[in-house]
This record gives sequence, structure tokens and C-alpha cells, in this order.
Amino acid sequence: MEKPALLLILATVCAFACKRSVAQWTPAFATFYGGKDGSGTMGGACGYGNLYNAGYGLNNAALSTPLFNDGASCGACYQITCDTTKTQWCKPGTSITVTATNFCPPNWSLPSDNGGWCNPPRQHFDMSQPAWENIAVYQAGIVPVNYRRVSCQRSGGIRFAINGHDYFELVTVTNVGGSGVVAQMSIKGSKTDWMAMSRNWGANWQSNAYLTGQSLSFNVKTDDGRVVTAWNVVPSNWWFGATYTTSWVQF
Ligand SMILES: *[C@@H]1O[C@H](CO)[C@@H](O)[C@H](O)[C@H]1NC(C)=O
Repeated sequence: MEKPALLLILATVCAFACKRSVAQWTPAFATFYGGKDGSGTMGGACGYGNLYNAGYGLNNAALSTPLFNDGASCGACYQITCDTTKTQWCKPGTSITVTATNFCPPNWSLPSDNGGWCNPPRQHFDMSQPAWENIAVYQAGIVPVNYRRVSCQRSGGIRFAINGHDYFELVTVTNVGGSGVVAQMSIKGSKTDWMAMSRNWGANWQSNAYLTGQSLSFNVKTDDGRVVTAWNVVPSNWWFGATYTTSWVQF
């Protein structure tokens, strides 16, 4: 085969198959928080609550302003490696994948290069201590890293936690695989049409319909354009405060 033709075929195949693997490594810095057992990382600005229940566990991180993007990065997965060319404090040959679950706020009373690690425009990951100890030595405190966005591996289906009351449903979407990031969502009661939801805060999506007593379906679009529909994932006897899932609805 002619070389240009072969290259064209490879390029075409790669346009589909290689989409996820071409993510570039970007330099950043990383610190850790939340204690040795990671308990201090539970909750967080994405609204996931208990991170075990949400399917995310301890491999999580709080992101600085440019990375957090007002919650639009909640649920994203980042592979992080310690930069052995810049520090002696790495555990060489290691990497860890963390899920974005929290926001690392700026502290303008500290200089950006001495304590104000999350001050914009810095790209910074404040990781759980257990996640951090995969790639760097505890005593270092802060290390230069390289990161790239990767696909998220989850077990089981997407979970929908419903809070609010009457004409206000606040739905937290967790355990999202694939891109991990919900970009658009709609809700349908068994007696209604599809209705667009809006991002309230973090990974919480809002509807103002009265849906008590109806089974609920969700249409979820991730930020890579993929869509899944969770038909009747919530039974008609649902209540505020409960979480619903189906094992087969996942990206
Ligand atoms: C900012 O850092 C200073 C010095 O460490 C600390 O006293 C203060 O509580 C911090 N402010 C916030 C909002 O965290």
C-alpha cells in the first residue's frame, strides 16, 4: 500500500480509537489534605457527600479555580504523576487517578508560591493523603506533577440522590463513568414530558416540577457528548433523601 494511503487510514482509525489517549500532560502542583484516613475529604464542593457511597472513595482531589471551573469539572478523572525531573520527593514510576470532588479555594493572604497554592491562575490538586502517598513522599508537602484527563472507571450504575421538597428536586448524580462529568441533564415524570434541569451547584441538578408519586427517568449527557437515559430508575414511591440506581445504566 502507498504510504500516504496507509497514513490516511491510520489517521481515520485513530480519530475514533485514539480520542482519549491523546490527552496532553500538563504541569501542575499537588499537596494533600483530609488526614491519613482521608476522612477530611468527605463532603466537598461538588456535593457528593460521603465519597464511598458516591462511588468515588479516597482517590479524590480538590481543584484550584481554573481546574474546578465553577463545578463543571466535578466527577472528572485525572491521572497524576510526580515530576521526577523537578524534585527528589517522588515515588518514581507511579501514578494515581483521582476524581474531582472538591474545590481548593484561593487564600490571598498567602503568596501564590508560598502557601497560596490554589491562588489563580495556578493549576493545583489538593489530593487526599492516601491518594498522594501513591506518588510522593509524605514529608515533601508539595510536589510538581504532570496530569492529564482520563476516562473514569466505575463499578455499577450511575446513582441519583434526590433531595429537596415538593416543587424543588435537587438531584445529585454520582458514580458517573466515562468522562465522569455531567454537562446536561433532563428529568421526566411518568405523567410529564422531558424537562431540562439546571446545575444548581457542584454536581447537583435542579428541577422545579411537582413529581411526587410519579416514577422518574433521567437523561444524562456527559461533557464528551455521550448520552444515556435511565428509564424509570426511580420508582413512583420515591422519597426525598433517597438514592436510586440501576446496575445497567452507565457510560
Ligand atoms: C489564609 O492563610 C492564613 C495564614 O496561614 C490563615 O491564617 C487563614 O486562616 C487563611 N484563610 C483562609 C480563608 O483559609
